[in-house]
Amino acid sequence: MAHAGIFISFEGLDGCGKSTQIKKLAKVLRARGFSVTVTREPGGSAFGEKIRDLLLDSSAAGISANTELALMFAARAQHLHEIINPALAAGHIILCDRFTDSSEAYQGGGRRLGSSRVLALHHVLCNDLQPQLTILMDSDVGKCLERARRRNRLRLHKNGRADSDENRFEQESIEFFARVHSAYLRIAAREPERVALVDARGQAMDTHRKIVNLVENRLKLGSVKLQIVRRRAAR
Ligand code: TMP
Repeated sequence: MAHAGIFISFEGLDGCGKSTQIKKLAKVLRARGFSVTVTREPGGSAFGEKIRDLLLDSSAAGISANTELALMFAARAQHLHEIINPALAAGHIILCDRFTDSSEAYQGGGRRLGSSRVLALHHVLCNDLQPQLTILMDSDVGKCLERARRRNRLRLHKNGRADSDENRFEQESIEFFARVHSAYLRIAAREPERVALVDARGQAMDTHRKIVNLVENRLKLGSVKLQIVRRRAAR
């Protein structure tokens, strides 16, 4: 199905710096006159955010891998319905913090459910919609985990409430995150045209420059270029 907008997803391990980079890119794109929708998974829609709370709270420790996968896709189906598809139809650039690659990496790889189960759900519930560009922020597993855990401790300390806990995944072992990391690299090797691997080990500003270059280069391609030319001409 043809869309007027552009769908860009960001992927990577917890603590790799995705949200900082999404904010910086959104600022650059908005300054150039684009309408930008920033959103995230699990979540994005009001109902999806409720599912997010259930999924990320560490008190949900007993849920099965299949339940986890099903809830990720329930949130995603609502996100597509309420946010992503309308924003694409309205010609927005969507910057989405995680999409189905996260399910393939975390549930398929980390939880060992395998890719085919995830991709089958993606086919049925998401009509195989894929971002035009996925920025996979690659970093060291141990460092990312350390940063993510530190961030959650600070968040908990600041809010002082057990109900603000988004800690469940960060409690997984380093082996779990190493499997997630390997699954991500397999996706990037399988789909090099969509998935761009960005080394995110350096300073945030260096990573930002790499991402801006990448987006500029990729957006010059094919039908996406025409939309940008049109939007620029309309200014
Ligand atoms: P984040 O929004 O801070 O990245 O946290 C979301 C967490 O949810 C992160 O640990 C990855 C996990 N996740 C999955 O396991 N599967 C999914 O499909 C998605 C979207 C996220």
